[in-house]
Amino acid sequence: MSTTASPPDTERTVLCVSATPDETLGRFLAASGWHVAHARTTAIAERVIERDNIKVGLLELPEDCTSQYLSALETCMRRMETNWVAQIAPGQADDELVSRFILDYCFDFVTRPCLNDRLIFALGHAHGLSSLRKAPVAPEPSQGRHEMVGQCEAMQQLYRHIDKCAVTDAPVFVAGESGTGKELTARAIHVRSPRAQNAFVAINCAAIPPSLLQAELFGHERGAFTGAVQRKIGRIESAHEGTLFLDEIGDMPHECQAVLLRFLQEGTIERLGGTGQTNVDVRVISATHVDLEKAVDEGRFRSDLYHRLCVLRLVEPPLRERGGDIKLLANYALSMYRQDGARKIRGFSSDAMLAMSSDAWPGNVRELINCVRRAVVMSEGRFITAADLGLPHVVRTPAATLAEIRSKAEKDAIEQALQRHNFKLSEAAADLGVSRATLYRLMHANRIGNGGTAAPVDAPERDDSHTENRGNGGNGHDKGDSGAGLPSLRASGE
Ligand SMILES: Nc1ncnc2c1ncn2[C@@H]1O[C@H](COP(=O)(O)OP(=O)(O)OP(=O)(O)O)[C@@H](O)[C@H]1O
Ligand SMILES: [Mg+2]
Repeated sequence: MSTTASPPDTERTVLCVSATPDETLGRFLAASGWHVAHARTTAIAERVIERDNIKVGLLELPEDCTSQYLSALETCMRRMETNWVAQIAPGQADDELVSRFILDYCFDFVTRPCLNDRLIFALGHAHGLSSLRKAPVAPEPSQGRHEMVGQCEAMQQLYRHIDKCAVTDAPVFVAGESGTGKELTARAIHVRSPRAQNAFVAINCAAIPPSLLQAELFGHERGAFTGAVQRKIGRIESAHEGTLFLDEIGDMPHECQAVLLRFLQEGTIERLGGTGQTNVDVRVISATHVDLEKAVDEGRFRSDLYHRLCVLRLVEPPLRERGGDIKLLANYALSMYRQDGARKIRGFSSDAMLAMSSDAWPGNVRELINCVRRAVVMSEGRFITAADLGLPHVVRTPAATLAEIRSKAEKDAIEQALQRHNFKLSEAAADLGVSRATLYRLMHANRIGNGGTAAPVDAPERDDSHTENRGNGGNGHDKGDSGAGLPSLRASGE
């Protein structure tokens, strides 16, 4: 049903959800400039919301509403873009079930009878806020590339490197901590390469027992070993004309390394138990989270194989160094798992954002995504907090002013010079390029104790400006005498 008094303004449509349409309410809203749509059931409401991109819903809560009824409503109220105003009976907000529901899912509520400005104000406000909420949460090309979310400089560089690697056939090695996206990068290279139409075959060298790895990679003939009841094509062969991704290559056993090296040099494989060589054309991408260079140094990884694999080398930046990308990735994870939560989650609280930006994320992107996913399920409010994420609450310290930074640098420089010269003021002053008197005054200003041979800080100042410093060319004038602060130290050194 649709009640219109004036030409419908589809931009200002309110969807009234109630089992029995209230004609008086419909007329009142229409007279107030709203186009009114009506849905008797939540199933109809869900369809109309999606179809007409409804921004405002008006929900009539029956006085005897049950938790089942509220659950049915919740399903159609999850959509972020729609703001809901509930109409309730007097006193109904005292019901804990109803109040919880309003807090979790509604933008506002009005008490019946509500044919008044309060209702129009609430609907107008709900509409206005919904129009503001245009920020996309799903990943968009502007948030990253290659199906990866990330805009920071390190990621931009990675995207450029992926593009370059994609057009050649040379082996690529992808380094990076666990969970940083090494496999995602390998797939991105494959998808953009001329081999994209062919197979991308991944094998995790750490997940297969060493005794089976060789057979898994190279395949075997029937009867090659006990249990080899039929011929099996190996992973290398099945990647023919495509890309072979050797994940966790750092964990490959030595004997397997030797056979792999032979394959990389000759481009042929021999199945276990086989007699002939088979030509295989694959592009190899490898990755590991272990320090492969160190493994080579320690003799755990063959250096000749290392050089074969690392013709091109990409490095995934750890999450803690990606700055604002942490926020992008958190929102991306929320957009993926928002529906898992029992409540309509609107976003992250500011303490959650601060905690996420400050965390070290040893498990990197994988850890962040899992952390958000868990919080979506466990969260009890409309915004995910640091506690929901299991992260410590971080106290925001005010940023230091330039003057504070200078003053600290000055104090540090003086303390270090004093320590270097065993608290001999003349030597420390010469080192710093100021006169002894200036150093003495700066120590006083910075409350630096002498700690040794120098005179106490609060001793009367002695004018020993005849003690020349390194930087003033021996003219006896200390240009840095004008006051405390790093520039004074620098000036005296000019
Ligand atoms: N930039 C990104 N944007 C979106 N999702 C990402 C990004 N980086 C990683 N992921 C996701 O994080 C998870 C881990 O990524 P991936 O498996 O590629 O990491 P990895 O470096 O290979 O990890 P491991 O060292 O544990 O094998 C995957 O679910 C992946 O989709
Ligand atoms: Mg991996």
